[in-house]
Amino acid sequence: MSAEAEISVGSDPRQSVRKRVFVVGAGIMGSGIAAQAALAGYPVTLEDMNEELARRGLANATRALDHAVARQKVGAGDRAAALGRIEIAIGLRRAGAAQIIIEAASEDLALKRRIFQELETVAQPTALLASNTSSLPITSIGQDLGDPGRLVGLHFFNPVLQMPLVELIPGLTTRPEVLESARSFAESLGKTVVASRDTPGFVTTRALAVLLNEAAWMLYEGVATKEDIDTAYKLGFHHPMGPFELVDLVGIDTAVAILDVLWDGFRDSRYRVCPLLRSMVAAKKLGRKTGEGFYVYPPPSVPP
Ligand SMILES: NC(=O)c1ccc[n+]([C@@H]2O[C@H](COP(=O)([O-])OP(=O)(O)OC[C@H]3O[C@@H](n4cnc5c(N)ncnc54)[C@H](O)[C@@H]3O)[C@@H](O)[C@H]2O)c1
Repeated sequence: MSAEAEISVGSDPRQSVRKRVFVVGAGIMGSGIAAQAALAGYPVTLEDMNEELARRGLANATRALDHAVARQKVGAGDRAAALGRIEIAIGLRRAGAAQIIIEAASEDLALKRRIFQELETVAQPTALLASNTSSLPITSIGQDLGDPGRLVGLHFFNPVLQMPLVELIPGLTTRPEVLESARSFAESLGKTVVASRDTPGFVTTRALAVLLNEAAWMLYEGVATKEDIDTAYKLGFHHPMGPFELVDLVGIDTAVAILDVLWDGFRDSRYRVCPLLRSMVAAKKLGRKTGEGFYVYPPPSVPP
């Protein structure tokens, strides 16, 4: 049986015995990926470093599913069933029970290398290892693995339940069957897959980083207010969100980390981080996830 067939048994995911998905990092992306996989019928383990973080991730996944119900994209029964498929975990030990492992921890190369080294010691040898990095080269993340050929990039978009795209990135030594398993998994979630070579930022992040950074430079230089820059991007280019609304959603720390990866990778001044973004990170104004970024957000309601 091919790795692809092993992951997608039958055409309707809900009628198949599903492989377990283990998500490392219960932040913005990990919680969204967990909700999406559970909605497609996969049992999911959502992991973070401590209980508070893992519980916060589950609350975020719940909110994402509630929002999908409110938008009439998901039925109440499917929401309840999906939530019933998500469990939380602390630490990587329980990754040993999963066949599909998606890493969505912070955008930090050393951290991701360490996580995958540990995963290699606990994961089943046939389990798929995928990173949701938005900018770091996959080959570099996997450089210390005994078997780097099993690692692949699977880049989801934010908010995961609403965004139909996944970028698929093979490292230099990723085996073809690993790539196909990853594609098959993403497609089983209803996503459209585009492939990118393993260069910093791939296709989408490279384009987005410049767009967000340029907006920050214009604000920094006093060209226009953040509200007017947001309105200009939305009404002038038909973008659904302005750059400051979007960077607040992405996380300003993540945006800075991405620009640093692009700078390190290309040494091109296009990727020179606007100092205003670094100041925002130093002030812990990271966007929606901390309640304030370029804009202020009300605290999310805490589920019972
Ligand atoms: N935010 C976006 O819009 C977006 C979009 C696509 C991809 N990404 C990528 O997804 C990844 C996660 O980004 P995010 O926005 O969810 O970040 P986030 O800051 O919301 O969440 C990161 C999570 O990782 C956890 N973490 C850190 N070290 C860990 C460890 N050793 N073990 C387990 N968990 C650990 C943190 O506690 C946190 O909960 C990054 O690689 C990022 O580049 C982000």
